[in-house]
Amino acid sequence: MADKEDLTRFGVAFPTPLIEQFDQYIEEQGYKNRSEAFRDLVRKTLLQPSALQSDQDVAGTIVMVYDHHISDLPIRLMELQHEAHHDIISNMHVHLNHDQCLEVIAVRGNLGRLRHLHQQIQVQKGVLYAELSVTYVDELNKLAHAHNHGQDPNPGQHGHNHNHHHNRSAD
Ligand code: NI
Repeated sequence: MADKEDLTRFGVAFPTPLIEQFDQYIEEQGYKNRSEAFRDLVRKTLLQPSALQSDQDVAGTIVMVYDHHISDLPIRLMELQHEAHHDIISNMHVHLNHDQCLEVIAVRGNLGRLRHLHQQIQVQKGVLYAELSVTYVDELNKLAHAHNHGQDPNPGQHGHNHNHHHNRSAD
């Protein structure tokens, strides 16, 4: 990771069969050591919807599959996205086959609003699948920018959109 972070070391006791299973799993996943695999598992857990507060700013995607022949559905889905245009960064539409469309919406904003948008999409007749995935939490809101960047002489002047974790698997 680009940031210089303090590392805390701690010992964890595992039953032998469990750690053997874990080692086999992380090798299959391409990890070089247990520490990075364990850190990724913790990060993933902390991004679970149940671990996040509705007032947090997050980034992620809404993925949906729908039948565009259902009357008014494409128009309704477009209206919902226009109403949420401040939270939508980008959008990709794929015509899967004669009937079905796959749409991936990149979102960034208040989690409560994004959950609401996802729910509104999910309940439309003709939407076969809709999932909100959160891949990033904006830490500025909860940490008040407690850590500085070595390369930044003016850490207090970060803009709102400054990302801290450009590459979370690089540490
Ligand atoms: Ni389509």
